[in-house]
Amino acid sequence: MSNPTGYPELDALLPRLEAIAGLDGDTLAAELIAVLGRKSGALTEALKSVPSLPIDQRKSYGAAVNQLKARFEAAFAARREVLDTERRKRDSAAVDLTMPARRRWVGAQHPVTRVVDDIVEIFRGIGFTVAVGPEVETDWYNFTALNFPADHPAMDMHDTLYVDALPIPGEQGGRLLLRTHTSPVQIRAMLESPPPVRVVIPGLVYRNDPFDASHAPAFSQIEGLAVDEGISFVDLKATLIHFAHQFFSPTTKVRFRPSFFPFTEPSAEMDVECQLCHGSGCPACKGTGWMEILGCGMVHPAVLEHVRLDPERYTGWAFGMGPHRIAMLRHGIPDIRLLYEGDIRFLEQFA
Ligand code: PHE
Repeated sequence: MSNPTGYPELDALLPRLEAIAGLDGDTLAAELIAVLGRKSGALTEALKSVPSLPIDQRKSYGAAVNQLKARFEAAFAARREVLDTERRKRDSAAVDLTMPARRRWVGAQHPVTRVVDDIVEIFRGIGFTVAVGPEVETDWYNFTALNFPADHPAMDMHDTLYVDALPIPGEQGGRLLLRTHTSPVQIRAMLESPPPVRVVIPGLVYRNDPFDASHAPAFSQIEGLAVDEGISFVDLKATLIHFAHQFFSPTTKVRFRPSFFPFTEPSAEMDVECQLCHGSGCPACKGTGWMEILGCGMVHPAVLEHVRLDPERYTGWAFGMGPHRIAMLRHGIPDIRLLYEGDIRFLEQFA
């Protein structure tokens, strides 16, 4: 037995001191508490007994306990060190340094978000600001103020999703519905501030359509509106041609075809040269060489009257396009559902 203390009850602990070198992590922790624990460790108890000893024994016994305590502390620390070193060795042996590194996933914008951002940036560059409006609308904003006749088929339950809730007090009236286009925000923008108005309005719209390769019940639109004194169809054409050249390419051809919307007169649809075949005709453009990208026209005088602007003084133009559709044209995506599924294998192609 190494270095007896001269006190039998302390010497009784010496085998345990020697055994420390063979303990594992759990038994080491338990033994530390059993010997040095503050509540009832064996050496703690011995120290606690010192004050009750006869005065001539206190000093030497106390010193012997403290020395033994120091030897235990050193032995516990040394064993902990050995166990730690062994564990570190095992851990590093388990790392295969020749394994290929794990790939880092980098997030990216959804192709539709990119289209919306690109469109907004182009219009901001020529002085437009961004406006937004609610997705739940009243039929006054969505239809009536936009000069839809009361019996227009678009208002039919087959096309419009009505909301079963009471209209908001104070709002211009009528039934609540999920807006079928972003055009009601034209009305809100004109009511909110007097001309000149130059806004682009991105947002989601809803229609009672089946979810198939070319339709979705919820899809994005972006509306544009310019109202001021002296605005003409020339401004409309020049601005939308500028947009097409910025968004597609400076040499992209465009054409305007007459069309009809209740809230614009005259109305047109703008086509751009097919981005896949560049005009020679392919399945994506059904052989025509053109792709329709937006509806537009001069703001109808009846719409200006609904927002109490004098159509003799003010004129304006508006357009509406669909970023989901434009993303499909831009990337040659054949099925709109791919833009909703969130499949990373599809989306990472555009990252
Ligand atoms: N709101 C029309 C639609 O959803 C698009 C449009 C907007 C047409 C503005 C002309 C002017 O089809």
